[in-house]
Amino acid sequence: MKNVASSGSADLVIVANRLPVDRVPLGDGTAEWRRSPGGLVTAIEPVMRANDGSWIGWPGGTESDLEPFEDEGLDLVPITLTQQEVEEFYEGFANGTLWPLYHDVAAKPEFHREWWDAYVVVNRRFAEQAAAAASEGATVWVHDYQLQLVPQMLRELRPDLRIGFYLHIPFPPTELFQQLPWRRQLLEGLLGADLVGFQLPGAAQNFVRLVRQRVGHKTHRDLVYLPDGRTVRAAAFPISIDAKGFEDLARSEEVEKRAAEIRDALGNPSRIFLGVDRLDYTKGIYARLRAYSELLAQGDLDVEDAVFVQVATPSREQVEQYRILRDDIDRLVGRINGDLGRIGRPAISYMHASYPREEMAALYRAADIMVVTPYRDGMNLVAKEYVACRFDNDGALVLSEFAGAADELRQAWLVNPYDINGMKSALLEAYRADEKERTRRMKAMRKTVSQNDVAAWADSFLAELTAVRPSHGKTVRPARRS
Ligand code: ADP
Ligand code: G6P
Repeated sequence: MKNVASSGSADLVIVANRLPVDRVPLGDGTAEWRRSPGGLVTAIEPVMRANDGSWIGWPGGTESDLEPFEDEGLDLVPITLTQQEVEEFYEGFANGTLWPLYHDVAAKPEFHREWWDAYVVVNRRFAEQAAAAASEGATVWVHDYQLQLVPQMLRELRPDLRIGFYLHIPFPPTELFQQLPWRRQLLEGLLGADLVGFQLPGAAQNFVRLVRQRVGHKTHRDLVYLPDGRTVRAAAFPISIDAKGFEDLARSEEVEKRAAEIRDALGNPSRIFLGVDRLDYTKGIYARLRAYSELLAQGDLDVEDAVFVQVATPSREQVEQYRILRDDIDRLVGRINGDLGRIGRPAISYMHASYPREEMAALYRAADIMVVTPYRDGMNLVAKEYVACRFDNDGALVLSEFAGAADELRQAWLVNPYDINGMKSALLEAYRADEKERTRRMKAMRKTVSQNDVAAWADSFLAELTAVRPSHGKTVRPARRS
């Protein structure tokens, strides 16, 4: 790779595998742009809106002729992937190797050398685009597990840049990470950044320990000292949501009306349980629905009185594990409804759909008990969105101990998602809790979410990045809208 001269004009460059919009081909040869799935986009979009930045990412297809474009005020730079790269980089190394490994081996990770080769090639493409887009001394913020080599590649191309990296998913325990045949390259890739951010402090500690053991650099607490004199800091920055934006939406008349319509359409049950997830094996959807169905079968709950609404957005559907999961859940829901539902009263109301934010807010408003039970999750923004929408200080949250959000939302009904009986008890407790108890817990959680919103997250990351490299670069505006 050669050193390229600064040629871009962006003072802030976001580099993420996904653009905030996805290009979805329609049958007639045209295409439309839709909002991309997942928490990463939810979190970064407000930061970008506060800055004149560029966002480099993949628009989801294999078209090679897409030019940079503007979408609702954001400058977007599409990266092209070939069909083979989609298979080997995205479905392969990112989602067949790293995703399961970093989520505590919730599925078996596969190690293939050609997947790794594609990962290197695609990471280099992102790094070259970022180098071309960034102005002299700009800040480049690289995101997530798909792009862990970009910081080092970018630093070689543009030593003038201030580079931050943030991992949105968990960083695995050292003994799991060490299974990776390319462990050293990934650590060195991340060390190209000035600041490496994680969701939780334990993840940052694992990273520093691995750097010491595997790369041999000197470390002290959260600092890594590189032989070239640079210092890299690793720290936790728990991500969040635009809490006020969600609350304002939830308070709107349209959303309130829609929430009433949803309750009505469900037959006005006394309690609505809700699950909202990407259809991912890390989310614990199967076990959660089983736990609920056992409560119905035992007579602790009754379909005349309660319903479980599960929204599951199809995700990564070309990856085999995801196809198997989708079939398994389809079958389970069919069986539960067949065995336990009555005419006009399904036990589970199940939807494969992606909704606009207004509809999400209406669902959160309609739901009495939000059920979030991942086996492992970096943060889980759905839990925080639910809390942000409950301005009435009512509603119950059942939350997995293994979601990053459990560190902050201590007043939720915390559960071990591997323990079906424990989940059943927590679901029942949340169902039976009186208003006083619900309010006490919700008030405390709302305080946490409103104080630590996405603007605070971005501000603290960017401020720390500036502090690590003070002599360098231009100032980036905080995400908080004035
Ligand atoms: P992940 O990033 O693993 O998908 P998170 O819970 O952190 O999990 O983030 C999911 C994000 O995607 C949230 O902002 C949520 O509102 C959004 N989302 C999830 N399901 C849907 C859906 N069916 N329609 C629209 N948005 C969704
Ligand atoms: C999680 C990951 C993101 C990813 C998103 C959606 O939030 O942390 O990096 O973009 O899931 O997954 P997808 O594979 O559709 O981009």
